[in-house]
Amino acid sequence: MNSQASAPGKAILFGEHAVVYGIPAIAIPLSNIRVRATCKDTSHPLTVIAEDLARPAVTIVGEEFDRSDPLSLMAALTIRQLNTGDLTGEIRIRSDIPVASGLGSGAAVSAALGRAIALMQDCVIADGELSKIVFEVEKLHHGTPSGIDNTVVVYEKPVYFVKDEAIEFIRFGEPLHIIIGDTGIASLTRDAVADVRTLYEREPAHTAAQFDEIGDIVNDARACIESGATARLGELMTANHHLLRGLNVSSADLDRLVEAALDAGALGAKMSGGGRGGNVIALVNDRSVTSVKDALVQAGAKRLLEIVAR
Ligand code: MEV
Repeated sequence: MNSQASAPGKAILFGEHAVVYGIPAIAIPLSNIRVRATCKDTSHPLTVIAEDLARPAVTIVGEEFDRSDPLSLMAALTIRQLNTGDLTGEIRIRSDIPVASGLGSGAAVSAALGRAIALMQDCVIADGELSKIVFEVEKLHHGTPSGIDNTVVVYEKPVYFVKDEAIEFIRFGEPLHIIIGDTGIASLTRDAVADVRTLYEREPAHTAAQFDEIGDIVNDARACIESGATARLGELMTANHHLLRGLNVSSADLDRLVEAALDAGALGAKMSGGGRGGNVIALVNDRSVTSVKDALVQAGAKRLLEIVAR
């Protein structure tokens, strides 16, 4: 047997960080960057190899596994959910999603691994079940995750997400042309999420008011996405970026890329995901796409990704 499972990256369009506190957020899957997990039969206990993640291989035997290791935890929880008993074989994980860059690498690795384990058992794991398991593993990556990353990565559809509420998928009135620019700086979401928590505890009223402003932007943005009001959507993106700066999760590099994209004619731009490093997203049209790409590279973007979300 040599079969493969996969899961996409993701980008948060609006509402990151505030979403941890019950504010809505909007995210899209990035289907052109993926994690692929290839299964091979062997007679040895299940081994997961993830060279792209610079990780040592992990072997899963029974209930003896390292709960602090995301691959081990994901594999063990999936095996438990499928009730398969000990497994033999090898799963090799390859990823083209940059790690610690806000593009959902952690959730995609978990989702692809969970699907591969199901495949080895000739069964399919339902998206709802898989998403719940990935969420458990996300706690290692994010501390107190909202659940948006596992949801958008597992269902691979644009979502309007509110923590602990039913998932809403959204439709695009017009395709969105987005350039993603990578600062090349790895940053742990867990640290940024923890710092926002500290800020919230220190200045609860002010921080809650910022979250509420973000919530208004997200709801306005949803209406713009559905009606195809792209110019207004761009303004909302930039406004969301300024509020994220207020939460102290942006950085000089992210701000520089956002400014460069706006100066070059982007309709809007913001950091995306946990922040501090990672990626910015810029909303462009046919007139500005080339100038924005050039400006991002000039401003130091290490890698660009172009997507049309629909
Ligand atoms: C990370 O992709 C998004 C954050 O809002 C954390 C979370 O929602 O779990 C920063």
